[in-house]
Amino acid sequence: MTGLSAAGTFQLGQHRVKRVGYGAMRLAGPRVFGPPHDHGAALEVLREAIAAGVDHIDTSDYYGPYVTNRIIREALHPYPDDLVIVTKVGARRGDDASWLPAQRPDELVSAVHDNLRRLGLDVLDVVNLRLMGDAHGPSENSLEPQFTALAELQQRGLIRHLGVSNVTTSQIAEAQSIAEVACVQNHYNVIHRDDDAVIDALAEQGIAYVPFFPLGGFRPIQSDALSDVAERQQATPMQVALAWLLQRASNILLIPGTSSLAHLRENLAAAELELDADTRRELDAIAEKAAE
Ligand SMILES: NC(=O)c1ccc[n+]([C@@H]2O[C@H](COP(=O)([O-])OP(=O)(O)OC[C@H]3O[C@@H](n4cnc5c(N)ncnc54)[C@H](OP(=O)(O)O)[C@@H]3O)[C@@H](O)[C@H]2O)c1
Repeated sequence: MTGLSAAGTFQLGQHRVKRVGYGAMRLAGPRVFGPPHDHGAALEVLREAIAAGVDHIDTSDYYGPYVTNRIIREALHPYPDDLVIVTKVGARRGDDASWLPAQRPDELVSAVHDNLRRLGLDVLDVVNLRLMGDAHGPSENSLEPQFTALAELQQRGLIRHLGVSNVTTSQIAEAQSIAEVACVQNHYNVIHRDDDAVIDALAEQGIAYVPFFPLGGFRPIQSDALSDVAERQQATPMQVALAWLLQRASNILLIPGTSSLAHLRENLAAAELELDADTRRELDAIAEKAAE
């Protein structure tokens, strides 16, 4: 198989989506705040992603804030029938571009309505509850009030499927005691592997795991091993990082973020990059070294 289909599909809510999707966060301006430098280029990136077969886009109304959702709507509305747009709620932006919590049930309800309005939808495919955690990642607080508020909106027909983001194993279990969890979105990549056990547990349950910062996010991954493998495979280090994720577990769905057409093409082409067992072991050792 060639193109995006080479990496297969996985269930996300009511759709089977291709395993390489697109994360829209980078379409906003610097620090994910304000408009992009080149509005036309942002529209082009989204349209090319869809033309190439992407059927899964990750966004949030707090990117910009409001910028990426408006651009998605302008570029793609009316949306293709098979496109799954996943949004997230639980934060808001300060005037200084800071990321502030917006976790009260009334704030979550407003956020869902804001996403519906700005995306031009009657129902949101998937909404992730994004917990704030602390500087190091997730922290163990109950998500019961927040997830119950979203489950009520789901029952009212405003949301089809629910997910959770920046969460621990026990928070995933707590969410599942309230409503079905369609996906989990946490920080994970070839170097940052805290969630290895979470991924395996979700795979057993048939639940999608969607790593954020698959390329390292604000500090793109740099590693000699990644560069060596890339040279041997006639690929780029970022393509190798994405191919490693695809081959790590079949329930991983990718949403690499980019504002660049060239990077978009490169990232989508990673769907076709195969890594043999020895190469995967070599890449696994990157995380072990980082942990030493
Ligand atoms: N749930 C959460 O809390 C959470 C947090 C963060 C992100 N997310 C979601 O996850 C998605 C992915 O995360 P992310 O965008 O922050 O990080 P990422 O995908 O790990 O990396 C994006 C960065 O890598 C660069 N890049 C992308 N492709 C590249 C390539 N082929 N070669 C070189 N550089 C490349 C981008 O710059 P260019 O624009 O120059 O390509 C950007 O600076 C986001 O878009 C967002 O939808 C969710």
